[in-house]
Amino acid sequence: MIVKVGGKHYRTVWMEGSSVFFIEQNLLPFEFRIEQSENFARSCHAIRTMQVRGAGAIGALAGFAMAQAFVEAETTGNPALILRARAEIESTRPTAGNLFFAVEKVYSAGQRSAGDAMAEAMAIADKDTEDCRKIGEYGDSLISDGFRIETHCNAGWLAFVDYGTALSPLYTAYGKGKRIFVYVDETRPRSQGARLTAWELHQEGIPHTIIPDSAGAWLMSQGKVDMMITGADRIASNGDTANKIGTFEKALAAKAIGIPFYIAAPLSTFDLKCPTGKDIPIEERSQEEVLYAEGPDESGTMRKIRLASPGSSAFNPAFDITPAELISGIITERGIVRATREDIIKVAR
Ligand code: MRU
Repeated sequence: MIVKVGGKHYRTVWMEGSSVFFIEQNLLPFEFRIEQSENFARSCHAIRTMQVRGAGAIGALAGFAMAQAFVEAETTGNPALILRARAEIESTRPTAGNLFFAVEKVYSAGQRSAGDAMAEAMAIADKDTEDCRKIGEYGDSLISDGFRIETHCNAGWLAFVDYGTALSPLYTAYGKGKRIFVYVDETRPRSQGARLTAWELHQEGIPHTIIPDSAGAWLMSQGKVDMMITGADRIASNGDTANKIGTFEKALAAKAIGIPFYIAAPLSTFDLKCPTGKDIPIEERSQEEVLYAEGPDESGTMRKIRLASPGSSAFNPAFDITPAELISGIITERGIVRATREDIIKVAR
């Protein structure tokens, strides 16, 4: 386990009895707080409001929420609650492949007993941790001493149960003594790069700097970036990849300039039922995220300020699709594969 805050190890989300505990990501990097959820409705709220976000963390919490629903159905004698809960959990983050993966597995286990649902949910969280650790090992083989690496959004340990995906190879490489430098895309509108990735890297002491989202192509063209690694929210069977909005244009720039562009993701993010990226639903989030920003003022009080011209509206797609042909390879827990249907079917079997 790598996650250490104030000298203590944490997972981002975990279950004790039927209670779920999680790191409240909306407060980071300004405040570190653990929240508790006693039922599936509260867990859904945490996913919807992005108190817990990121592919694997969403998946783990969705699995825990489904298990909580089985427990609640048993204690209240109301089995109808289970299907209602499943629909509610699945409506929270429509692009997130890990969410649907975990809900399906826990729902199936729950057909045997609520205890089996809880055991399955915990197994999913444990496997997520181990998968991400292995992604770090495989991804490290791509990183040479002195590499400058760009990343988008947050696919570090906060986005999973532990370790992360895009950042896991960086942690491994740095841990082995390789000198690396990370360019962190700020990732508007919610700034997961500037707030979360930067915080994670700072905790680990890894040299980095935050760049505006629009700076990537320029830096690449100046020979300042050796590779780019991002995570994924869902990967279609042909290798087309949904990730945080802005990933597609980074991949286009990387291809044009000749920079390797890698995706890091566990097999739980692959959705073989989606033949191409066109079949992946894209979540649209509130325009408030674009029009306003939130952060502490000088006294530490959280404030929300308007950034945009009053009277204008905003459009806020949360993800885009990077076509497979722009992806140099996908780093999985079973090795690095090409973004082709042939390789994906083989590795996922
Ligand atoms: O909207 P978010 O913050 O849940 O976005 C998902 C992501 O964390 C990123 O797209 C990430 O790069 C995918 S892997 C965690």
